[in-house]
Amino acid sequence: MELNPFIRDIPDFPKPGILFKDITPLLMNATAFQHSIDLLSIQFAGQKIDAIAAAEARGFLFAAPLALKLHKPLVPLRKPGKLPYRTYSLKYDLEYGQAELHMHVDGVELGQRVLLVDDVLATGGTMAAGGQLIEQAGGTVAGCAFLVELAFLNGRAKLPNYDVFSLLTY
Ligand code: PRP
Repeated sequence: MELNPFIRDIPDFPKPGILFKDITPLLMNATAFQHSIDLLSIQFAGQKIDAIAAAEARGFLFAAPLALKLHKPLVPLRKPGKLPYRTYSLKYDLEYGQAELHMHVDGVELGQRVLLVDDVLATGGTMAAGGQLIEQAGGTVAGCAFLVELAFLNGRAKLPNYDVFSLLTY
């Protein structure tokens, strides 16, 4: 099944000059959404993974079903002021703006291998920050999985030490 028809281009969102990849058509088609989760699970099923981590909000949409399918713990990476317990945190640059990501200090245990999941790889800032949070906690990044990779933004350059996998590349 082709997933490409379920990604919609929105010109000039959220700013003039940016061509936004809208994943909502995929979310609204249960067959396509299920297929995307199946493909991600097949890719990582044979690997040693102790947990799945994802940044809010759109990352959760793919990480949660994948965590259930692979039967692994789900670790939320969240914007400031959202997580109630003690956190590790990092500031990073986005394609459009700045952001800060937090993870509970007990989200990842020493030596755990964590798969990072997100909907889109753009500049790579979010995923690089997620990787650093996991490493701060003493974990290792087992891989980075995306639905969509915007290759022209070269986000992979920010993730040189990680195994990066994308279902769709533009
Ligand atoms: C988007 C997307 C990724 C990130 C990718 O999230 O869901 O997490 O940007 O960009 P990067 O590779 O340049 O870091 P956004 O911050 O827009 O938040 P949202 O998921 O809450 O919409």
